[in-house]
Amino acid sequence: MTKSLHLTAFMRPVSLHTGAWRYPGSFADANFNFGHIKSFIQKLEAAKFDAFFMADHLALLNMPIDALARSQTVTSFEPFTLLSALASVTDKIGLAATASTTFDEPYHVARRFASLDHISNGRAAWNIVTTSNPDAASNFGLAEHVEHGERYARAREFFDVVTGLWDSFADDAFIRDQQSGIFFDPKKMHVLDHRGEELSVRGPLNIARPVQGWPVIVQAGQSEPGRQLAAETAELVFCSPRDLASAKLLYADIKGRMQAVGRDPGHLKIMPAALIVIGNTVEEAREKRARLDGLVHYESAIASLSIALGHDASQFAPDQPLPEIPDTNASKTGRAQALRLAEEEKLTVRQLAQRYGGYAGLAFVGTPQSIADEMEIWLGEQAADGFTVVFPYLPQGLDDVTQQLVPELQRRGIFRHDYEGSTLRDHLQLPRPANRFFA
Ligand SMILES: Cc1cc2nc3c(=O)[nH]c(=O)nc-3n(C[C@H](O)[C@H](O)[C@H](O)COP(=O)(O)O)c2cc1C
Repeated sequence: MTKSLHLTAFMRPVSLHTGAWRYPGSFADANFNFGHIKSFIQKLEAAKFDAFFMADHLALLNMPIDALARSQTVTSFEPFTLLSALASVTDKIGLAATASTTFDEPYHVARRFASLDHISNGRAAWNIVTTSNPDAASNFGLAEHVEHGERYARAREFFDVVTGLWDSFADDAFIRDQQSGIFFDPKKMHVLDHRGEELSVRGPLNIARPVQGWPVIVQAGQSEPGRQLAAETAELVFCSPRDLASAKLLYADIKGRMQAVGRDPGHLKIMPAALIVIGNTVEEAREKRARLDGLVHYESAIASLSIALGHDASQFAPDQPLPEIPDTNASKTGRAQALRLAEEEKLTVRQLAQRYGGYAGLAFVGTPQSIADEMEIWLGEQAADGFTVVFPYLPQGLDDVTQQLVPELQRRGIFRHDYEGSTLRDHLQLPRPANRFFA
């Protein structure tokens, strides 16, 4: 049987690329224009995308004001409000949201995802993040960011609590027997009574078990503890390998760790994020990308590099190589990738910054055929089970993918022509988890 791939849309509604809102024809106001976002998701659903992923961040002031003033990527709707509204204008596409284990409480997170899963008839997914941005701490009453290792320790326990809360009721607990007057069977309700290192939660959750049992679990951190968390808990991994070789290593590492903890590697789909720029010729696609990258101001570029490094890069000599960068409590992955890119391609600070102001990660730039060729290779070489698609600019970049690339993937028999089921678990071929308290 031919292996087929999965596609998730990585949504910042104006695009992740800092220059995108200035690209001719782009919907620069899409972050707060529900009509635009609704049209995006409906097009993605018509193209049979697995899921729409709404990333989320918990601080605005994470860069100097001159850079911030130029950036469309820092402001956006709160994901649950948005996805609940989108659930009612779609039927099949998955709805993934980020929620932070560092700055949120498991009872809140369990309720919100259980609600979204019921509202959408089984289409919710939770992107577990530990929040690398240190500026988020001061929005939540903390003087300093929580230490990286401690963030991941809390995340692991947080997962157990949230999934335990989702299992508060057996699937058939709500009998609603009008004759006897019994609404639910108390024997089919479990009080979690969790008391752990980081968290203390009594439960039970005041919501029936989600349609999918548990919403799909997503993980997006690639540091050592991030990979381990993914191996132990995740069903979908969003990652950002730069090339085929590093993607294969990451894929093998996470799937190997899964086996070591007794999980079936087939129960996790690895979806590298990829910027996709399509042209009628490879040359035309490259020109589009160059035009887009040319719209990034140096202030934005250097601020984006500072975020990646977890260290202020504005003081460095722009035309020199990157100096020694101390370890960071922000994103370990971000720092490591930036250092590797600078080293491998011998980039100056300015050149590296220019990459980060645009999109520094994996990019497929070419024709629908050349991009489908590359995707087939990634799929066949066990580097990816699909892709988290980053659109260069919207709506055109999204239209190019849905109208040109998707039909090409379908023609090759590696992408669905229609949804076979109705839940996100169905789309991703993931089993519905058993209730740990009511087998
Ligand atoms: C595709 C993708 C999507 C991500 N989405 C978010 C997000 O919405 N919110 C967030 O705070 N971090 C997000 N991250 C960052 C990761 O959660 C993680 O914090 C970062 O990769 C650092 O990981 P580390 O702490 O394991 O080094 C995303 C990462 C990737 C690759």
